[in-house]
Amino acid sequence: MRTQREETVRTIQELERELSSLREEVQKARENEAKARAIYEGTSDAVMLATEQGFLDGNPRALKMYGFASKEEFIHTHPGNLSPPTQPDGRDSLTASLEEIRTGFEKGTHRFEWVHKRANGETFPAEVLLTAFDYGGRRVLQATVQDITERKQAEAKEKKFLRELDALNRRLKEHEEQLVRANEQLRQEITEREFTQQNLEKSLSELEEIHAVLKENQAQLLQSEKMASLGQLAAGVAHEINNPTSFIMSNLGTLTQYVGAFKQLLSFLDMLEESVRSADHPRQQTVMEQIRAFRTKEDLPFILNDVDSLLKESLDGARRVKEIVLGLKSFAHIDEAEIAEVDLNESLNTTLKLIWNELKYKCQVHKKFGGIPRIRSYPGQLNQVFMNLLVNAAQAIPEKGEITIETSATPEHVLIRISDTGCGIPPENLPKLFTPFFTTKPVGKGTGLGLSISYGIVKKHDGTINVESRAGQGTTFTILLPRTGVKEDGFV
Ligand SMILES: Nc1ncnc2c1ncn2[C@@H]1O[C@H](COP(=O)(O)OP(=O)(O)O)[C@@H](O)[C@H]1O
Ligand SMILES: [Mg+2]
Repeated sequence: MRTQREETVRTIQELERELSSLREEVQKARENEAKARAIYEGTSDAVMLATEQGFLDGNPRALKMYGFASKEEFIHTHPGNLSPPTQPDGRDSLTASLEEIRTGFEKGTHRFEWVHKRANGETFPAEVLLTAFDYGGRRVLQATVQDITERKQAEAKEKKFLRELDALNRRLKEHEEQLVRANEQLRQEITEREFTQQNLEKSLSELEEIHAVLKENQAQLLQSEKMASLGQLAAGVAHEINNPTSFIMSNLGTLTQYVGAFKQLLSFLDMLEESVRSADHPRQQTVMEQIRAFRTKEDLPFILNDVDSLLKESLDGARRVKEIVLGLKSFAHIDEAEIAEVDLNESLNTTLKLIWNELKYKCQVHKKFGGIPRIRSYPGQLNQVFMNLLVNAAQAIPEKGEITIETSATPEHVLIRISDTGCGIPPENLPKLFTPFFTTKPVGKGTGLGLSISYGIVKKHDGTINVESRAGQGTTFTILLPRTGVKEDGFV
């Protein structure tokens, strides 16, 4: 049986134990509260307690965030005054805040973004977490507010960056598309170019063929112009030779008759000699009679005189034939690339002689030959040029006119000028003059090649050929040849 005292001691001991454990619990609770308060007070978020009527409490961060000097001031401010009149989505802040609070109470926790207003009127974006719980027998809301200005700025920056990135991407895409298009075009162009090139190659080979044919034709044409020139030449030469040969032949006929008379005289002489040697006087008388009769019949002094002139005329004729033949020789080798140092005055004389027949009836020819140096040239070819110019000049004169041939020397050139008082050349024809086949003459008379060939020959001599003309008044062709003459390979 325990004593009363023992019971009391035990009770006291139990009470002491309970008290000490209570003390421990109180201590723990105090520590917990201090921790909670430290978190509440020290957190970087604003933490407030509120009912639907208004704030109950706010931590120091909340006072700082909203710009209030004291907790008193803060608690007496209605939450509705901590927002601008409207939210960024256009909602009225007061109505919207009541809605959010209601949702907070209903759901227990509710997170949303909100734009707040500080006491100084400045606004800032925030993330709000509402937590509903019972406090002192009342439902209260704890609001944790985090200033998200920086996050928003970062977001805005990111958005801007994204927008820029987007724009860049779009541009990149556009460029890519352009590139694709350009590529496509390029490919097309390449194909076209290849096609064109093929065409060009085809045209080129066709052109080459045409060129070959033309070359052949040209050779034929040159030949035909030469034939025409030669034909012209032959006609003139035939006439020139025909004339002296005719009168030489007729002179020879007359001379043959005269020789007959002299033969007769000689036989009288023989008879007389015979009769003298045989002292046959009557025979002598008869012969003398016959001689006297012969002399009355034949006008011997006239014959003697005529023989002289016939011989002289025939010799002249023969000399002319010889000159023409010599002149022909220089044309005979027109093609041969024989270079010789020639006196162009002489060449002009030779040519004149050969075509004299073309000129003599209607042209008065004036020669104004100057002292010119001998020129290294292809003489046959230059003769062909002179001949063509002179024949053209003669053909330009319808009935009567003048041709002037002038030569002179400058320090660097030899000049040959052939002028006529013929029909002249209309200005529109001047540019076509040296083109092959340009002719105003009827078929058979002109080939239209003379001047183009002459141009080629003068060029070959490094010279120039120019024309001045006035329709109805006359034409002048001027050739300038370098005094140095033609150059040969290896010839300096
Ligand atoms: N002295 C000139 N006077 C007038 N026209 C000329 C003269 N020389 C050349 N021509 C013109 O130039 C054309 C071409 O001359 P050319 O080439 O020698 O060929 P062709 O004498 O065969 O016609 C002649 O048809 C003529 O119309
Ligand atoms: Mg001609």
